Amino acid sequence: MKDASPQTIFLKDYTPSDYLISKIHLTFDLDDTNTQVISKMNVSANYDFKSLKRDLVLNGEELTLNKIFVDGVELGADQYELIEDGLVIKEVKEEFILEIHNTINPLANKALDGLYKSGSIFCTQNEPEGFRRITYFIDRPDIMAVYTTKVIADKAKYPVLLSNGNPIDSGDLEGGKHFVEWLDPFVKPSYLYALVAGDLGLVQDEFTTMSGRKIDLRIYVDKGNESKCDHAMESLKNSMRWDEEVYGREYDLDIYMIVAVDAFNMGAMENKGLNIFNSAYVLADPKTATDSNFFGVEGVIGHEYFHNWTGNRITCRDWFQLTLKEGLTVFRDQEFSSDMNSRVVNRIANIKTLKSRQFVEDAGPTAHPIKPSSYIEINNFYTMTIYEKGSEVIRMIHTLLGADGFRKGTDKYFELFDGQAVTTEDFIHAMSVANDNYDFTQFKNWYHQAGTPMLDIKTSYNEAAKEYSITVTQSCKPTPGQDEKKPYHMPFGLGLVSKDGADFPLKLKEVFTAQPQIEENILHLTQESETFTFTGIDHEPVPSFNRGFSAPVNLKSDRPLSDFVFLMANDNDEYNRYESAQALAIELMSCLVKDAANGVPLKLDAPFIKAYGELIKDESLDNSFKALILDIPSEGILHQAQDVVDFENTFKVRKFVKETLAKTYEQELSAIYDSLNVDKEYSLSPEAMGERELKNLVLGLLLSTGNSKYDDLAYEQFVKATNMTDEFAALTMIIHSDSKYADEVIEKFFIKWKHETLVMQKWLTAQASARGEKTLGRVKELLSNEVYDKSVPNLVRSLIGTFTANYTEFHNTSGVGYEFITNQIIDIDKLNPQMASRLAGSFKDYKRLPSDLKALVKTSLERILAEKDISRNVYEIVSKTHA
Ligand code: ARG
Ligand code: ZN
Repeated sequence: MKDASPQTIFLKDYTPSDYLISKIHLTFDLDDTNTQVISKMNVSANYDFKSLKRDLVLNGEELTLNKIFVDGVELGADQYELIEDGLVIKEVKEEFILEIHNTINPLANKALDGLYKSGSIFCTQNEPEGFRRITYFIDRPDIMAVYTTKVIADKAKYPVLLSNGNPIDSGDLEGGKHFVEWLDPFVKPSYLYALVAGDLGLVQDEFTTMSGRKIDLRIYVDKGNESKCDHAMESLKNSMRWDEEVYGREYDLDIYMIVAVDAFNMGAMENKGLNIFNSAYVLADPKTATDSNFFGVEGVIGHEYFHNWTGNRITCRDWFQLTLKEGLTVFRDQEFSSDMNSRVVNRIANIKTLKSRQFVEDAGPTAHPIKPSSYIEINNFYTMTIYEKGSEVIRMIHTLLGADGFRKGTDKYFELFDGQAVTTEDFIHAMSVANDNYDFTQFKNWYHQAGTPMLDIKTSYNEAAKEYSITVTQSCKPTPGQDEKKPYHMPFGLGLVSKDGADFPLKLKEVFTAQPQIEENILHLTQESETFTFTGIDHEPVPSFNRGFSAPVNLKSDRPLSDFVFLMANDNDEYNRYESAQALAIELMSCLVKDAANGVPLKLDAPFIKAYGELIKDESLDNSFKALILDIPSEGILHQAQDVVDFENTFKVRKFVKETLAKTYEQELSAIYDSLNVDKEYSLSPEAMGERELKNLVLGLLLSTGNSKYDDLAYEQFVKATNMTDEFAALTMIIHSDSKYADEVIEKFFIKWKHETLVMQKWLTAQASARGEKTLGRVKELLSNEVYDKSVPNLVRSLIGTFTANYTEFHNTSGVGYEFITNQIIDIDKLNPQMASRLAGSFKDYKRLPSDLKALVKTSLERILAEKDISRNVYEIVSKTHA
């Protein structure tokens, strides 16, 4: 461990900074290992100076300090002190100019935090606390300053020199160097600061804003990749227009730049006017990117663009407020994607992600509220909970207030807080005052309580009175540090579906409270347990609960399985048609897992087989929707329903169900495949994407019949494919079905694509996710393949990250999977703690493992904790898992 015991930081300890920095001028003389940084800052007391401590404490990590000047006078050794992770300037004045000279080593920076090199490009990542690895600073988001940057570098190697804002000066310097100076007129926190230098290709376009201003749009990529930027550029223009139309937000600078780099810890970063992106979310053409990659590009481009108002113009007071910008911005990007594509398909995809990843987090050792009250390492809190659950919380506010009310709320938010660093309470305040002081008191529990609520629903029908009642009881299991939970206020979409498939109008018998209990088929749940009685229901309906997934909860009810079958076919809420199919399959498959464990022969429920067949044959369904609804629940989803996770039998059951369904409907499936497998001009239209999606899902089902003619079919698709969606789907299925073509396609794909790192990432993923004991050996071999590089996070995620999600192999009872990942965590932590701590998260199931596996994981966790010098990042995750 670096520190003997890493410190926990608490929200309750927040105090404003004693000193402010209003302006900073930075000069960089770039060099691989010895970059010179000069920072000149205007510092002043934040409060009555007499009451302040006279020591100015600055953050700084991995820096070499050269000189300090105060108001132009160099400080002597007794006037400052270097401390662990920082610098103290002693006895400062009320207001002064502080100038610091330091050096950094970007080439050695493999943590990809601060200023580093990705290939031959210099770039930065400063959120949340990277700026302190560039120079000494009060590195917290409530210190907002105007930044000017002069970048100096070798002109031949780095013709492009970028920073935030607008270029104000440039010129040649001696020794083959040149410089460009940038000024960002908007105040911003240090985490939004960015610098880029490289020999980059440029794609340019422009956008005219709603007030008629022309914005210069620029995407910088590695030379040779310029042709892969069309979709990103289109998505950017769509985002700019959408934010004007839906939120009335206009872009504020004259230039908007995006730079794509290969080595990046996360998806992308919203630096003011200069977004830096993981190249996976910029580069996309039909030959090298799948349809899902195209969606990813659109979503992330939107996300970072929307941050300009929700994140940059209004930012977070401190990092406990992270969901203020992330939950809100995810909500905005999800809505943008829904408007650009099929709304229901997009919503289902978002909910799938939430359930398969956030629900797991909420049930595991690192569960935390969307607004945590403490952390050890803030980088560990860029989580599914802060982002995706955070977005669901915003979505509930949107549901409670309605679209117009929500818009009034955001207008108020921008009006009150533009240019400030604020809290989630400030956001709620704006929402409330713009909506007749809407009472969010109880709703705020969503911000402070972790865990996924469970709704237990009992129904009853009173034939004589023509009344139907539902009793909803909410609960939420204890999570670390929170044993008791208060009831939540949640909007609950409800439909009572009649025999003929129409919805009964919902009329409540009695209204008890001042707050409305029902609006537009949305019930307001507020009590631990409450009963709602509806009148005028002339026969027993089939209830459709939580329509549109209006609240992010799990459901349990007394309804018979036949209700799910009915809703799969008849629900007017498309999302719930999908959800009913899932719920039914989860229920049945969970029983089968138990049967398998008890040695009972597996048999699939006949009504389910029939209902599934109806879906296959239903020609009215949109292809994308059909592909989603025919995709039986994942192993991960099935594990969630198990007290002790049974990896082997879950895998077996899923295979059995797929095979049974495929054999039953082989003819129909094969007909669908043929009808979709026709030569057509490639298009990115939702229809064309839906066709590819359904075709590939169907191919997967056909392969599971075990009939070798489908091996040939998959091989043919692989060879003939003219787009990556079909090519990659075939590659993956061929490898996973252990077909006789597996080795050949692995080789062919490699030869064809080895110079495209984003495609090689897919190649690694397809192999690391294959089942069977030879996979681990293969993964180990791939570590020394020419395309693999452990300092590039995308490659680590593709190979190592994918293996941790390969349940049967990672959790292999021999313990070899755990041993391998443990070694990887320890090894990668030395380079990149953020990457290592993500991998460490793969032990999240520890407490729910069977005892033999649990003992093995315990040894692994203890081995990691015993390592000297493990990062705070890994320490936090592993110690919380082990606790
Ligand atoms: N704010 C960025 C986004 O949401 C994420 C950056 C997180 N970076 C990190 N190192 N944790 O797009
Ligand atoms: Zn974000």
